[in-house]
Amino acid sequence: MAKLYAAIIIISLLSLCTWGAMCATFTIRNNCGYTVWPGMLSGAGTAPLSTTGFALASGQSSSMDVPSGWSGRFWGRTLCSADATTGVFSCATGDCGSGTVACSGTGAAPPATLAEFTLDGSGGMDFYDVSLVDGYNLPMLVVPQGGTAGNCTATGCLVDLNGVCPSDLKVVLSAANGGGAAVACKSACEAFGSPQYCCSGAYGNPTTCKPSAYSEFFKNACPRAYSYAYDDATSTFTCAGANYLITFCPSTASQKSSGVNSQAAGLPLVNDTMVFLGGDSEDDTSSSAVSLAAAPRRALSFALALLTVSLLLLKQQLF
Ligand SMILES: *[C@@H]1O[C@H](CO)[C@@H](O)[C@H](O)[C@H]1NC(C)=O
Ligand SMILES: *[C@@H]1O[C@H](CO)[C@@H](O)[C@H](O)[C@H]1NC(C)=O
Repeated sequence: MAKLYAAIIIISLLSLCTWGAMCATFTIRNNCGYTVWPGMLSGAGTAPLSTTGFALASGQSSSMDVPSGWSGRFWGRTLCSADATTGVFSCATGDCGSGTVACSGTGAAPPATLAEFTLDGSGGMDFYDVSLVDGYNLPMLVVPQGGTAGNCTATGCLVDLNGVCPSDLKVVLSAANGGGAAVACKSACEAFGSPQYCCSGAYGNPTTCKPSAYSEFFKNACPRAYSYAYDDATSTFTCAGANYLITFCPSTASQKSSGVNSQAAGLPLVNDTMVFLGGDSEDDTSSSAVSLAAAPRRALSFALALLTVSLLLLKQQLF
């Protein structure tokens, strides 16, 4: 009996994803004041996830195990509904075109803020970023938890750019859909389709494709996010053995933080002196410095605490 019990404990410990090598736990949290429908797309040749899309109500979190070696992206869909007559599901932003809540292998229609991951890549490192290359629809924060090595820090875009989006990039709801509200912000590539904005053709390399006034709008607001295709140096992050917390509308969290997940609270991600292209619009975004240094140890102490509790339970069974 005791042996069986010990085996159950060991198996449950192994399946916790705490040990990095086997898999990673991704937690998606919605701190927006409205429902977000996360979508996930697995890269070619990597194992599919247990889900490819679901609804996440305001204030809710959902966790999933992501297999080692996985690559792919996460994004948030907004203003979704199923058509009253056809039942076809669609979203005003980030729609994956599947017609259902699950995206089933299809990606986000731009513009959409993307969180991109390649787990256990070169040198065993996870590579991750938040990208505005396909435009922007939601503030998003990625926080690695319990990782070691690399420049394992939070990245993302904390600010809501929809209202301040340059008018030639702005996406507003059509009159039929309630009209007027700014819901997303296109990339210059999508808005104008020109090679110099898309880094294609003669502009298909880092020496010829340079930041534009449009990409700098995104970069000034969100210094750690990809603002154009060759923005790698300041936008790619690496980590080993981490779990990841992806938060939609993170800065709302720092305002009404319940202290449950202090790592997700405001990080010094947003440039305090954020200046928009117009030059006359400034925004002060709160940025409290929460140290992430404790995160790796937190995972370890959680594992140790669990082990201790398990051993205590086992001891009670034996004696
Ligand atoms: C993080 O590390 C990677 C790999 O060394 C590097 O390519 C990238 O530029 C670094 N990112 C930042 C934001 O410093
Ligand atoms: C903030 O943005 C301004 C304008 O883009 C820039 O001059 C300044 O260096 C940035 N500060 C930080 C801390 O990144």
